[in-house]
Order: sequence, then structure tokens, then C-alpha cells
Amino acid sequence: MIQYNNVTKVYGDDITAVDQVSLNVNEGEIVVLLGPSGCGKTTLLRMVNGLETITDGDILFNGESIQSLNEIELRRKIGYVIQSNGLFPNMTIEQNVTIVPHLLKWDQNKKNERYEELMSLVGLDAEDYRKRYPHELSGGQQQRIGVIRALAADPPAMLMDEPFGALDPIIRERIQDEFLSIQRELNKTILFVSHDINEAIKMGDKIALMKNGQLMQFDTPSNILQNPANDFVSQFVGQDRTIKSLTIHFVYDLVKTIELKDSLSSSATVKKASLDTSLRDILGFVLESEEQAVAIVNEEQEIIGYLDFELINRYMVSLSSEDDPVRVP
Ligand SMILES: Nc1ncnc2c1ncn2[C@@H]1O[C@H](COP(=O)(O)OP(=O)(O)OP(=O)(O)O)[C@@H](O)[C@H]1O
Ligand SMILES: [Mg+2]
Repeated sequence: MIQYNNVTKVYGDDITAVDQVSLNVNEGEIVVLLGPSGCGKTTLLRMVNGLETITDGDILFNGESIQSLNEIELRRKIGYVIQSNGLFPNMTIEQNVTIVPHLLKWDQNKKNERYEELMSLVGLDAEDYRKRYPHELSGGQQQRIGVIRALAADPPAMLMDEPFGALDPIIRERIQDEFLSIQRELNKTILFVSHDINEAIKMGDKIALMKNGQLMQFDTPSNILQNPANDFVSQFVGQDRTIKSLTIHFVYDLVKTIELKDSLSSSATVKKASLDTSLRDILGFVLESEEQAVAIVNEEQEIIGYLDFELINRYMVSLSSEDDPVRVP
């Protein structure tokens, strides 16, 4: 749906911010642009909606060069969430959310309905916040408003530039989860900028890892973690990639290679988890619980066995190709 063909961006005479990047974002997919500060992520994003010109190459949107689309078409087709929410401080929450519908000249009733619908999507009371200003909201609430503002005209594609970057880790995880569950329904095509490998693994169907304007690797999170294309990728991904890779492994993966325990020595009741729980979450439950174990249940909620730290550890060792010591957070 969004196709970069050999795209280059040079600022001034000699600052090559983006260097011959080619990549495709398919419909309904989240691609995370990942890399250190200054590697060209924001520039790559802003060339899609015409906020930066393209020096060389082209970007196609549904097969059409974005350079042939006018500003109104771009607004309608592509929502944009900028680094640190970018709400207009002098506009009310309602005005902020409906700014694109306003520019597209929707009538008042339609704008109002859309405002209420979007607020309920992120669990905020439409009436309570209607006349408030951005500074009267918490950071997490402001970020939610930034996201629904980009969704307002229901564009098929979204550009999100570190949308959750300014939030503390707990709120951040909550908003990431919330956004993923919204995305499961909306199925937008999304380019998402991050410099955090954990966020990229969690949010991305694919990750485009950048360095100095060049694309180092474009692949699924699982392949980036397990088959880094070069030294830069493996360094960026980090030493504790076994732990990180647990976010993309699930109880059913483990069950394929390792048998669950059929009982525990302690008779205390343990937390239950389903087969589609990520092993990263399971590790959290196990380390928190007194018994250091969880019960795994099938779809009928019947216990099919128990998983403890020893089993997770065995699985992690089987994952790590090198003999890095297994690290626990
Ligand atoms: N308007 C501009 N004029 C000149 N150089 C620019 C301009 N915008 C960005 N650059 C340069 O282009 C390069 C890429 O910048 P960009 O903002 O795309 O990086 P980024 O990956 O988004 O970084 P960050 O993670 O810090 O947001 C940097 O070297 C930056 O200094
Ligand atoms: Mg940036």
C-alpha cells in the first residue's frame, strides 16, 4: 500500500538524511521504523504525507506517486501522529479531535458524532473533556487524543512518530496494548517510528532498522532477533535478546518442544494462563507468584499442565544459539 522506491533525501547540499531506501508496507500491516537518533526515521515518515520533499526516488500510495496527490487528498488518506502529541494548546479537546473533519468541511452533526465515537474508542468521556484544553489532561490522555485526532477522518493509513515516546513505562505499555486492540478492529496500514527495540518487537509486523539514513534490515521481529543481518543489527538488538525474544514466543511454542508438568508439589492455587499467552508475560507471572509457576488452561478453561521457571529456562536455552548466560530481568 505504501511503497518506497529507492528514496533519498538530501537536506541542503550535503546532509543525506535518507539514502536509497526501498520498502513496502502492505495493507493492514504495522511497520516500525527503528534506529538511533538522527538516522532518518522522521524524514522517512514526513516524505509520505508531503511534509518533506523527496530528493530522489519515489513513494507510491496504492500504486500512485504521492507527489501527484494534493494536500486535501493526503489528509484524507493518511493520519499523522507527531512526536510528543502535538495538540494545539489553544484549542479545546473537541476542536483538536475534529480538526481534519473541520478542514474537510464536514457538517456539525457529523463532526459531533465522530468526536463522541472516537472518545469512546479510547475510553474517555466525551462530555467531560469536550471543553477542556490539552494542558488539563494527563500525558497519557493527551497521547490518546493525539491518536484519535489522526483517526478522525478514518484514513486508511497512519503515520505515527514515536507516539508513546514521552510516556512513563507503565502508561506506555497500557496505551500500546490499547492501541493494538483498536488496530485489530480498524486494520489500518501503519508506519510507526520508535527507537525502542522492545516497542518495535511488540508493535511491529515488520521492523525496518535504520542507520545513517540507510536501511540495515527489513524483516519480521522474529527474524531480526534471530538472524540479524550484520553487526549493527545484532548490537542494536542487544545482548539480552533471548529475553526480548520471549515476547514473540507463546506457551503453545514451548508446548511443542517441552512437556508441561502435570502437577506441582505445592497445593496452593496458581494463576491460570491460556496457550496464547506470551512467554514474556508468563515469565512475569512466574517470578511474581509464590509457587513460581502458572497453570496452563485450554479453551474450555481446563488445566492441561503447569509451567515453571525451569521449563521456561530450558526453552530459552534452546532458543539462544550462542552460549550467552540466560539473563533474568
Ligand atoms: N530540516 C532539516 N534541515 C537539515 N537537516 C535536517 C533537517 N531535518 C533533519 N535533518 C537531519 O537529517 C538527519 C535525520 O533526521 P531525522 O529527524 O529524520 O532523524 P530521526 O531518526 O527522526 O531522529 P530522532 O530519533 O532524534 O527523532 C539528521 O542528521 C538531522 O540533523
Ligand atoms: Mg524523529
